[in-house]
Amino acid sequence: MADNVKLEFGGKASEYPVLSGTTGPDVIDIRKLYAATGAFTYDPGFTSTASCQSALTYIDGDEGILLHRGYPIDQLAEQSSFMEVSYLLLNGELPSAKELESFTYTISRHTMLHEQLATFYRGFRRDAHPMAIMCGVVGALSAFYHDSTDINDPKQRMIASHRLIAKMPTIAAMAYKYSVGQPFLYPRNDLSYTANFLRMTFGVPAEEYEVDPVIESAMDKIFILHADHEQNASTSTVRLAGSSGANPFACIAAGIACLWGPAHGGANEAALNMLREIGTPDRIPEYIARAKNKDDPFRLMGFGHRVYKNFDPRAKVLGKAATEVLDKLGISDPVLDTARELERIALSDQYFIDKKLYPNVDFYSGVILSAIGFPTTMFTVLFALARTVGWVAQWNEMISDPEQKIGRPRQLYTGPAMRDYVPVAKR
Ligand code: CMC
Repeated sequence: MADNVKLEFGGKASEYPVLSGTTGPDVIDIRKLYAATGAFTYDPGFTSTASCQSALTYIDGDEGILLHRGYPIDQLAEQSSFMEVSYLLLNGELPSAKELESFTYTISRHTMLHEQLATFYRGFRRDAHPMAIMCGVVGALSAFYHDSTDINDPKQRMIASHRLIAKMPTIAAMAYKYSVGQPFLYPRNDLSYTANFLRMTFGVPAEEYEVDPVIESAMDKIFILHADHEQNASTSTVRLAGSSGANPFACIAAGIACLWGPAHGGANEAALNMLREIGTPDRIPEYIARAKNKDDPFRLMGFGHRVYKNFDPRAKVLGKAATEVLDKLGISDPVLDTARELERIALSDQYFIDKKLYPNVDFYSGVILSAIGFPTTMFTVLFALARTVGWVAQWNEMISDPEQKIGRPRQLYTGPAMRDYVPVAKR
């Protein structure tokens, strides 16, 4: 462990311990800073702030490394299943065959929604964005499952977590069905987590839906790649909401709201819309020029990341998977050619090299999701479905951490200093 950090401020000296994790940068423990100096730290956007301790996910942005409980994401994506990764994130270790079977069984027994929840959908316009429906319906779960909301009881926390992981595919599929005017399909517990979701989304009551193993495997991989990502904006939102002791279902709804933004999970929808707008590789230079123009708010969607400054390991897996899936499905989509060419041109452009901007997870996922048959508005919903496991695992970890307090940042106040009220007649 490094020596204490010594600080001299306002004529007073103070010292701060340095804490080391298992891997990654040390952190300076400044919890006593305000008491010792009367000053706060200033870090808008939290670029240098560790908001908590966590044993779930590790990212090395310079090396392009992403580990869940120590396991590299590419190994998990290639060799495991979303149920295995969910168990790993929630429980800390990979499950034995028996544990996996029991976990999968438990999740499958929570897939149904309270029947009354179906009426919530009818309150939305048919053209509502499915993320708007997700925010509403997931928030509404808090009014239905009162027996799993004592957050101080680890068993109830786990039941709430299982319910959220299990019900998310049902809620997401219903959001899709509502938008296309088709009847909702009830879950089928004999299918895998991912196959059940695909059937509820693309099946119709009039005929049997055959789940294509190529699509099932691609979908499962996409779920794994989105399962967790350290203290990103939506996860921090879930933690902050949960830090007040709020209802777990409401906390996840808060995470969904944050994920929706185009700088976060909404980027997958924006990236595919952008690729379609570009249309053909010959128009790429025009868009590269716009991305580089300071006076133009346009950004290359699916490019850049707060933490990854070398490459996003999830984008590598997805770029490969996009080609495989389209090949196996026999689909030739010009959007994939545009994506590949855009990646090639951007990665050889000095602006993107200097700013260390690489394709992120959202760059190729849309190409696959579109090939599977999802409309772009569903892309972020799928991200939310998969990230739910990360959110609940992080929420559980936070609640059981004795050091965690209610999240309450301070500020650098720049408004008027105290002044006297002037009656309206004298203003
Ligand atoms: N296209 C063009 N320029 C960019 C881009 C981009 N996609 N991303 C960053 N820059 C530039 C930016 O203009 C800035 O330039 P300057 O230093 O001259 O002002 C510099 O790079 C640093 O950008 P920043 O906004 O300060 O960086 P950040 O860490 O705050 O933002 C980001 C990270 C992901 C929000 C940003 O790269 C971005 O908006 N990307 C496009 C949206 C996107 O793909 N989001 C998905 C992120 S990964 C999945 C997820 O989180 O859900």
